[in-house]
Amino acid sequence: MTTAPARTRTDLPTRSASHSASDSAPADVLRPHAEVAFAAELAALAAADDRPRPERWRLSPWAVATYLLGGALPDGTVITPKYVGPRRIVEVAVTTLATDRALLLLGVPGTAKTWVSEHLAAAVSGDSTLLVQGTAGTPEEAVRYGWNYAQLLAQGPSREALVPSPVMRAMSEGMTARVEELTRIPADVQDSLITILSEKTLPIPELGDEVQAVRGFNLIATANDRDRGVNELSSALRRRFNTVVLPLPASAEAEVDIVTRRVAQLGASLDLPAVPDGVAEIRRVVTVFRELRDGVTQDGRTKVKSPSGTLSTAEAISVVTGGLALAAHFGDGVLRAGDVAAGILGAVVRDPASDRVVWQEYLETVVRERDGWKDFYRACREAGV
Ligand SMILES: Nc1ncnc2c1ncn2[C@@H]1O[C@H](COP(=O)(O)OP(=O)(O)OP(=O)(O)O)[C@@H](O)[C@H]1O
Ligand SMILES: [Mg+2]
Repeated sequence: MTTAPARTRTDLPTRSASHSASDSAPADVLRPHAEVAFAAELAALAAADDRPRPERWRLSPWAVATYLLGGALPDGTVITPKYVGPRRIVEVAVTTLATDRALLLLGVPGTAKTWVSEHLAAAVSGDSTLLVQGTAGTPEEAVRYGWNYAQLLAQGPSREALVPSPVMRAMSEGMTARVEELTRIPADVQDSLITILSEKTLPIPELGDEVQAVRGFNLIATANDRDRGVNELSSALRRRFNTVVLPLPASAEAEVDIVTRRVAQLGASLDLPAVPDGVAEIRRVVTVFRELRDGVTQDGRTKVKSPSGTLSTAEAISVVTGGLALAAHFGDGVLRAGDVAAGILGAVVRDPASDRVVWQEYLETVVRERDGWKDFYRACREAGV
């Protein structure tokens, strides 16, 4: 498929061939790419969009921002918000892609860096699959190009034997490339991005040739705050990026809104039976996560200790999704404290020794005393403290 890393592919389908593969993806794929899942919204935006579009962009920057933040079109089409957060952040991210600087999305885990990167690529280029997944083992071929060894041995180096990386494809076709977890990539491999981003060219010394980026090419990288230090970005590379920091949700209400939306989408794609009125439990999960994360209760009165792991919005989403599955399959169809308690415990207690103490203390000093939380307190006790 289109996401296979360059080094494992043996054939070399053309962009249009691989594209039609995702267009005709069976309806039951577990997680369709953004451009497939939201094809109708993207088409409606393209039809309504009369603002200037940078070359090879599917939409104008305004329409890309509307796709991310949501809105209503003159014909009544509702664009669902994908990212819930400050409008300015999205505007800066989108306009960066229209400049000669690449975009670096930075933030603590679970702040939607990957999510925003995928949706930006889908809206700008109509394709979010030109993706390099950064790991400690990411080889240079994944960023530049590799070879089909059978052809290389048979014919020697040639354009036909060359296996382009997603970045190379994006350059030659004027598309958006994505690099996930940039700071996990070894420094020397990261450095191969410098020429690409500053000279907009990718030399192929074996062929005495090069690939020059055409208009429309840009790159979105994501990096995790917590990984800082694993492989710091060199300052040379950092200067090629505009950095946009994605914040944690500003308020509990915003976070409840994000969790509610995503849980509904995930529940639909997992075919979970609908569980009505989960919002009270969602609010509770979000409250617990925010209090433990912030180290203080929401009324500001009681200090609490923070556990070792991150309690991000993404974790809240999985706790609630897991709870909904329990409620639907084993409960009475209503999301209750007992359905989320075990999930919360699993998310909070990552280190069995220290986190268990943190959780115990929170449970006994905060949860136990709070009005209307008796059922939750009992459920947490039963969940195995
Ligand atoms: N502000 C937000 N708006 C919309 N969705 C959000 C927001 N924050 C988190 N999410 C949701 O959280 C989930 C996780 O996000 P994502 O995987 O993109 O995080 P990340 O920042 O890439 O994390 P990591 O650093 O672990 O890679 C997604 O499903 C996304 O929808
Ligand atoms: Mg990510």
